[in-house]
Amino acid sequence: MRNMSYNHCIFCVAGLLVVYAYDDLSHSKIATQSHTYTGVGYGATNAVDGNITTCTRTKDIGPNSPDKTVWWKVDFGEIINVFRINILFKNYNGYDIRQRGRIAGFSLLVSKTGDIHGATLCYKAGPQLPPLNFTSICSESGRYVIFYNERLDGVTYPEGYEVINVLTELCEVTVQGCNNASVYGTDCDTPCPTTCKDNTCHIQSGSCFKCKPGWSGVKCNTKCKEGLYGDNCTQQCTGHCKDGAACNHVTGLCDGGCDA
Ligand SMILES: *[C@@H]1O[C@H](CO)[C@@H](O)[C@H](O)[C@H]1NC(C)=O
Ligand SMILES: *[C@@H]1O[C@H](CO)[C@@H](O)[C@H](O)[C@H]1NC(C)=O
Ligand SMILES: *[C@@H]1O[C@H](CO)[C@@H](O)[C@H](O)[C@H]1NC(C)=O
Ligand SMILES: *[C@@H]1O[C@H](CO)[C@@H](O)[C@H](O)[C@H]1NC(C)=O
Repeated sequence: MRNMSYNHCIFCVAGLLVVYAYDDLSHSKIATQSHTYTGVGYGATNAVDGNITTCTRTKDIGPNSPDKTVWWKVDFGEIINVFRINILFKNYNGYDIRQRGRIAGFSLLVSKTGDIHGATLCYKAGPQLPPLNFTSICSESGRYVIFYNERLDGVTYPEGYEVINVLTELCEVTVQGCNNASVYGTDCDTPCPTTCKDNTCHIQSGSCFKCKPGWSGVKCNTKCKEGLYGDNCTQQCTGHCKDGAACNHVTGLCDGGCDA
């Protein structure tokens, strides 16, 4: 109980400073990683336990290692609307540059299935070394947030990238957003337009990622132009509807029947 109120307090203070009301959705969720460093105390859940002194640690990746890629992911259990991701990487006094060189080049993805292939990329580190207290806005909906990095054979990495002993150590990953992907707004209380595909929308603007068939526009509130229908308004009506009527913008059918 003592630990819980302590963590809660940290969150309150951070929340007040940045004004956003989004919930911390990753805390205590199921976390897994590609491989874990030998020994105890390096498990994937250390990054979602609310304690920044416990960290994950994977095996090393790189040309001298059997492993070339590394991932860590958190499963929210259902599709959520992500707003912001903060990652606190392990720091060792005096080794900042080395630590930053190890995480250099990483990506953050949001996925509905947990598979990196088909996931939406929301951040990819450039040639610069990322900070060890890293924050990125990532307005996507999905069930998993995935951290991914690689040190492939035969690739020349930018200056400062570490290529040997590349351990990944995440002390805390905090994902903020709405725990219902069908709502948006800073209080997570405005329903997404019902014409958004999968009823999901951008967490701040409420614009749809894609429209349901028959609709277009950023909020999908515009019917397809006359003569067009269906997914993304790309289908052409066949014509021949009774009295020259337009076909249904969703189905393409002649609602009033066919021409004689
Ligand atoms: C964080 O973890 C460390 C190491 O396990 C432990 O000693 C400490 O009490 C924990 N702190 C909180 C606030 O839970
Ligand atoms: C990391 O940065 C955030 C804001 O960007 C700040 O609230 C937090 O205290 C920082 N954490 C540490 C451990 O420095
Ligand atoms: C999510 O929000 C939508 C829109 O307000 C609502 O219809 C739905 O019941 C909510 N789902 C859950 C699981 O609360
Ligand atoms: C419609 O299709 C175009 C071209 O494929 C694409 O750029 C656009 O994002 C789509 N719009 C919606 C709302 O799905």
